[in-house]
Amino acid sequence: MGHKQDKSDKNNKFFITTPIFYINDKPHIGHAYTTFAADILARYHRLIGDDVLFTTGCDVNSKKTIVAAEEAGYGSDNIDQYIQDMSQIWHECWNQLDISFDDFIMTNEERHYSATRTLLSSIYKSGDIYEGYYEGMYCYKCETFYKENELLADQLCPIHKSSVELLKEKNYFFKLSRYKEEIKEILQAGLLKPKTRTNELLSFLEQGLEDISISRENAQIGIPLPWDENHKTYIWVEALINYLTCTGYPNKDFTGLWPPDLHIVGKDIIRFHCIIWPAMLLSAKMPIPKQVFANGFFTINGEKISKSLGNAINPLSLIYKVGIDGLKYYLFTSFPFGSDGDYSDQRLVDIYNGVLGNKLGNLVQRTIAMIQKYNDLDIKKKINIEIPNISKVRHTLNYEDKYSKLFSELKFDKILESIIYEVDEVNKEIELFAPWTVGKNDPIRALDFLLNTICPKILSLSWDLAPILNQTHNKILDILSNPLDKNHPLLFPRIDNI
Ligand code: MSP
Repeated sequence: MGHKQDKSDKNNKFFITTPIFYINDKPHIGHAYTTFAADILARYHRLIGDDVLFTTGCDVNSKKTIVAAEEAGYGSDNIDQYIQDMSQIWHECWNQLDISFDDFIMTNEERHYSATRTLLSSIYKSGDIYEGYYEGMYCYKCETFYKENELLADQLCPIHKSSVELLKEKNYFFKLSRYKEEIKEILQAGLLKPKTRTNELLSFLEQGLEDISISRENAQIGIPLPWDENHKTYIWVEALINYLTCTGYPNKDFTGLWPPDLHIVGKDIIRFHCIIWPAMLLSAKMPIPKQVFANGFFTINGEKISKSLGNAINPLSLIYKVGIDGLKYYLFTSFPFGSDGDYSDQRLVDIYNGVLGNKLGNLVQRTIAMIQKYNDLDIKKKINIEIPNISKVRHTLNYEDKYSKLFSELKFDKILESIIYEVDEVNKEIELFAPWTVGKNDPIRALDFLLNTICPKILSLSWDLAPILNQTHNKILDILSNPLDKNHPLLFPRIDNI
């Protein structure tokens, strides 16, 4: 990833993406996790002055969409309405989670048809497409073919544990095998992080890389191939192209934005992003993405989150209790970004109350309460109740020094832990000074300590938090700009359960 340390007058561009999500179900915390991560990085890069393009959206041209629409009672002639309604739900959910995306793409949009067909034509022109016949076991829930030895007993899909179907059809193939060595080099050069995932893909490549079918003859929805309108583009091939669509491709302005600086994806879809996708771009003679980062998976009570298990947790139901920042703090400190871990309501409550409430919330609340108390002792005219540097602080903090390495390594847990460590330090400093004792005889000295020593530290902490807990950052700025206002709501009101 990496932004330049030395800022010239021209801003760096930072293009970051999330996967585009299937619309057969509503968003759950796993989807929100990936999207929050991209949002944090987008916010961080905006704060250090980069020109950010942050894209997300919905992957609609899947058989899953049709099945889900029918199950939801839409009827086969009403699929478009289902697509619109579900995309609306995703879009709205991201808005309610305060995701700062710049573009929300849906793959049934005209612009995506145009980008897909243009890129496919380039690949076709490079001689990497040929016609063949495919026979294989297909899981439509994964939108993937499986080899016999990858299936579970009774020929069940290894991911969904549901039956796969035998597909026999005339297909167009992409000469993926041709790119094996180049892809290997790209992976060895560090395209994918964390490194364990790279090793996983390298050993997959060792088993040989086969060409892939890139069309479906009988698909009900999808984008027709430019050279044979009777075939629809294989959904994964087309979905990957969404990243290009969002840059305005094929209009020539796209070159200023391409390639992406970072694709954030789940560990489940790295073969698509780090093998097929770079090969497609190499074939079309386009630059490949600079970095792909694979996040780990949340389970719930040890179980995979799945529609069939019905255990998905709606992120919106959690933010009513712990706020967006409470949820983000929990998600990003539960385990390092890139590893797997389990979600638990109780841990969310404990961390929310114990860390955010008792440490950060308490620091801000008691500081302000004491300022108000000592100010009320009728000394208003003797001291200036203003927090130093409230407006200048933006310029005095240097993101690039403090957390740039941790942000570039996506170590959100370490950043948050380090901020909370500093919160503890400031709390200790207050204990040591004991303004409640000093203030009894010398309220001005207590006020001076709170306003000139503690508040600037809180302010600085709030800027450190800004890319991650942006709402808390804003609330702290509000409080510090107006420290005598007694109506500020609590930062993290205590909760008993979820
Ligand atoms: N539509 C494809 C992606 C196409 S991108 C060109 C797809 N969609 S999905 O709706 O299944 O979303 C997958 C992504 O959601 C995962 O790659 C991951 O980023 C995120 N997650 C889904 N479940 C998750 C967890 N349980 N935990 C963490 N992330 C999860 O695949």
